[in-house]
Amino acid sequence: MSDTAIRITDFYFAYLNSDLVLKDINLEIQKGSFTAIAGPSGAGKTTLCKAMTGIVPHYYGGRYHGSVEVLGEDIRGRKISEIAMRVGIMMDDYESQMVSLTAGEEIAFGLLNHGFSPEEVDKRVSQALADVGLPGRENYQLDELSGGQRQRLLLASVLACRPEVLILDEPVSALDPDGARSLYALLYKIYQQHRMTVVVEHDLNYLLPYMTDLVLISGGEARVQGRFEAAARAAFAQEDLRENLPELWLVKLGLEEKYQVRLGSWRTEEEAEKELLQKFQGGGKA
Ligand SMILES: Nc1ncnc2c1ncn2[C@@H]1O[C@H](COP(=O)(O)OP(=O)(O)OP(=O)(O)O)[C@@H](O)[C@H]1O
Ligand SMILES: [Mg+2]
Repeated sequence: MSDTAIRITDFYFAYLNSDLVLKDINLEIQKGSFTAIAGPSGAGKTTLCKAMTGIVPHYYGGRYHGSVEVLGEDIRGRKISEIAMRVGIMMDDYESQMVSLTAGEEIAFGLLNHGFSPEEVDKRVSQALADVGLPGRENYQLDELSGGQRQRLLLASVLACRPEVLILDEPVSALDPDGARSLYALLYKIYQQHRMTVVVEHDLNYLLPYMTDLVLISGGEARVQGRFEAAARAAFAQEDLRENLPELWLVKLGLEEKYQVRLGSWRTEEEAEKELLQKFQGGGKA
């Protein structure tokens, strides 16, 4: 069995009326990883997420070259709905993806389309609601749910298909910072419970506690990819990519360079604060 969840080889893509948006992408997303995708606005991150699920190019048309393999299979010629059972995607405009009146119907919709029996659908609906912290809310109307709850409901409808890979494109764009942090904490819990592969596109400050791998996209190219720590160092070494790094890591890598020290692999402010107090308090003068 391969350890690669998604493999993109020599991939180029242009929308119907655009120049090349993705250029010579060679990328591997490791199975079981929590991979973060980041990069400047317009870099091609959303297009890349869509390419991982076949929406690009199948739905949008356009010109492309190269291949995308999902869980060992080339997706060329495969139906988007078929791919969706193995690779779930949640987009930033999540409200526009909602189609039903009640929470239960919203989740059931996709499953019924795939021909699951009513018993199986009921089972999966209640499991998915429980997974996202909305147990027993089958009969809630969508307008009885808060923005954050509706977002979790959408996550539940993707999870109900039990995909092996879950792709989220700026899934918290409509939430305040606390809402965003709590959605990511929930996502991480689900990632650990279901041992799935997660790919998230967003600001790395939010993903720092969780990501195992990092991909930086700029100008349609995958400029850096790999395990988080090595990828972060590679990005730090390239002036134009630095600003994408989490703030804590800009501080950490900047200090390491300036004082020729090696600091821990900080994932939280608390960890950073603790180490800095130990190392720099009193002694090391700036
Ligand atoms: N449907 C489309 N038709 C034509 N061009 C498009 C289309 N969607 C996106 N583009 C262009 O493709 C490029 C990459 O867009 P994309 O949305 O993938 O970037 P992004 O990295 O997700 O940006 P952001 O951080 O703003 O979400 C941009 O130049 C954009 O204008
Ligand atoms: Mg985008």
